[in-house]
Amino acid sequence: MKTRITEMLGIEHPIIQGGMHYVGFAELAAAVANAGGLGIITGLTQKTAKDLTNEIARCRDMTDKPFGVNLTFLPVMKDPDYPGYVKAIIDGGVKVVETAGNNPQQWLPILKDNGIKVIHKCTSVRHALKAQKIGCDAVSVDGFECGGHPGEDDIPNMILLPRAADELEIPFVASGGMADARSLVASLAMGADGMNMGTRFIATKEAPVHDNVKQAILAASELDTRLIMRPLRNTERVLSNSAVERLLEKEQQLGADIQITDILDEVAGVYPRIMSEGDMDAGAWSCGMVAGLIHDIPTCRELIERIMRDAEQLIRQRLDGFLDTREAS
Ligand SMILES: Cc1cc2nc3c(=O)[nH]c(=O)nc-3n(C[C@H](O)[C@H](O)[C@H](O)COP(=O)(O)O)c2cc1C
Repeated sequence: MKTRITEMLGIEHPIIQGGMHYVGFAELAAAVANAGGLGIITGLTQKTAKDLTNEIARCRDMTDKPFGVNLTFLPVMKDPDYPGYVKAIIDGGVKVVETAGNNPQQWLPILKDNGIKVIHKCTSVRHALKAQKIGCDAVSVDGFECGGHPGEDDIPNMILLPRAADELEIPFVASGGMADARSLVASLAMGADGMNMGTRFIATKEAPVHDNVKQAILAASELDTRLIMRPLRNTERVLSNSAVERLLEKEQQLGADIQITDILDEVAGVYPRIMSEGDMDAGAWSCGMVAGLIHDIPTCRELIERIMRDAEQLIRQRLDGFLDTREAS
């Protein structure tokens, strides 16, 4: 399949694996790249710029296809070494960066001067238009369904994607709630040039996370996510567990007075314990409503090939069939 996104990124299929904290290691990014999608290493999961340099090199050893690096600009207590990470990306010859969170404007000149395509992930049309204005090459439009940070507008993709299509000139991919060929074909119908998946890629053979995480996604339905940190205007969609329920109780008790320091036990430094050690109640971890559509643990190649095969069938048979009036006439 050829879209503006496959052309821009030099990939075979219009499928991107979004950056994911403690999931987006070289193994997953390379597996997605080898299957013809765009795999993404999560920059900030690497503790230092030197570690990111090594991770990029590890990924390059596993694939000769294009892959990207995610740079997330979220409110954190101590600013990470962004200049060091950007240098590691440039020196590592990476040609795609997925930015997320705050406005990436200050990093665009250096990234673009080095021939790097920037895809900014955003959760509203106004932020997508801003990204276009400051010179991002594409955007990833993340609907309210998404795992991670859906923003504060709560607009689901059935509305957000056509709104984005009506306003944007640069290509965009649909993100949030994407799992299969139906997601891809629907996204294309609504004006996107491809799709970005997070949660779906965690439940793959190559995702380098503890099996408990994959089983938790398989066991979850679309009813099992919760929104946390809304009072802090840093809303995150996570899978429900005992830590999340405790956190939500604190939010209810403390109301508008809640501070990030009140919930540190539930959110700070919990990802390695969950993703690497499989301690599923250690804290809050991002997960999309799409968990309700995930029932197996394929390889990335099996997943992507299945999506592309089923998408072709959907378009050529189901959709085209609706137009076929020969029998009726
Ligand atoms: C476990 C997990 C961790 C994530 N970490 C990040 C991150 O560090 N930076 C980022 O930009 N997005 C992050 N995301 C969001 C994904 O890149 C993607 O936008 C989102 O998962 C799409 O929604 P979906 O899960 O419904 O596919 C994370 C998502 C998950 C599920």
